[in-house]
Amino acid sequence: MKVLEIHGSTGDSTILVGGSLRDLGTYISAEEVVIITDINVRRSYLKDFPPYEVIEIGAGEEIKNLDTVQAIYGRLVELEAGRSSFIVGIGGGIACDITGFVASTYLRGVRFGFVSSTLLSQVDASVGGKNSVNFRGYKNIVGVFNQPEFVICDMNLLRTLPEREIACGFAEVVKHAAIGDRDLFSYLEQHYEKALELDLEVIERLVYDSLVIKSSIVNRDEREKGERRKLNFGHTFGHAIEKTTGIPHGEAVSAGMVVASALSAKRGYLSVEGTKRIEGLLKKLKLPTRLRLNGGEVVDALRKDKKRAGDSIHFVLLHDIGSAVIEEISIEELEAVVHDLC
Ligand SMILES: NC(=O)c1ccc[n+]([C@@H]2O[C@H](COP(=O)([O-])OP(=O)(O)OC[C@H]3O[C@@H](n4cnc5c(N)ncnc54)[C@H](O)[C@@H]3O)[C@@H](O)[C@H]2O)c1
Ligand SMILES: [Zn+2]
Repeated sequence: MKVLEIHGSTGDSTILVGGSLRDLGTYISAEEVVIITDINVRRSYLKDFPPYEVIEIGAGEEIKNLDTVQAIYGRLVELEAGRSSFIVGIGGGIACDITGFVASTYLRGVRFGFVSSTLLSQVDASVGGKNSVNFRGYKNIVGVFNQPEFVICDMNLLRTLPEREIACGFAEVVKHAAIGDRDLFSYLEQHYEKALELDLEVIERLVYDSLVIKSSIVNRDEREKGERRKLNFGHTFGHAIEKTTGIPHGEAVSAGMVVASALSAKRGYLSVEGTKRIEGLLKKLKLPTRLRLNGGEVVDALRKDKKRAGDSIHFVLLHDIGSAVIEEISIEELEAVVHDLC
């Protein structure tokens, strides 16, 4: 097991890469503990949960909302959970985001931690202190910054995860490598087959190295005033593609990274060889790179991007594999890229 520390303004967070769900009890020093988990994770792993109260939620992006949050508050009141209670979210990004939001607001905040059970949440969602829910169709628009006390990334849980969910996690690993670690990028190029087989040693390195990049950026810019924006590489187009096609986030980000790489090359930063390596690696990891898109819809979605500032967007470009820059790009220029694509 490898350990990483995040120093957030709301407290410190310990990330246990290669830790085990079965050891959960040893990380919690509280008398009253409540688990929040989703229906699928409960079904597969209840046998490994310590004997705490369990609140079950449904699965899927549709339940990541204030109705679910209210239902959980109701159960916490029934269970007479108090200020000294500890809440653990066990699951993917959805269970962890909801848990972080509930724990940060119930009684003005109680202690909480996560056991992260999807590759995407291990390499991304459960780390960094953002805890949000969706509201009226807007993703993650209501939320808080607050660090969990711990995050256990248990690689053994990934074996029951559908292949498509695994691929989505790899997209975020490629993102982290592309913006901050050329060695990780080369490692993935060499070991992608073992990664797809979920070889424990390879996955542990991919998760750990990804988190080193994410946590060092978050440590420097927790509130996304500057450098944290680099973590949005591939996401401006990715979100627009996700919205217009309905494909999973990681797949949309994969295609979004191909577009952002092409734009980086067009601006004279990234070499053509670099763009080919990025697209090649995504393909090896069974991710889509080029999609049939409706240009008008994509442009419309770009215009509604919540990270847009006036007529431009802070856009993440690559200088090289392992090195990113943030530049303001006008909506018109992005529209021109969409027209080239479609
Ligand atoms: N807080 C952040 O910084 C941050 C960052 C990125 C993404 N997110 C959020 O994360 C969410 C996506 O996370 P996700 O991809 O983990 O989705 P998810 O939580 O929906 O999990 C994906 C599916 O896998 C199931 N599942 C979970 N663990 C499993 C396991 N071990 N075996 C079998 N099935 C399992 C779930 O029930 C679900 O059906 C989005 O809502 C996104 O907004 C948050
Ligand atoms: Zn993402």
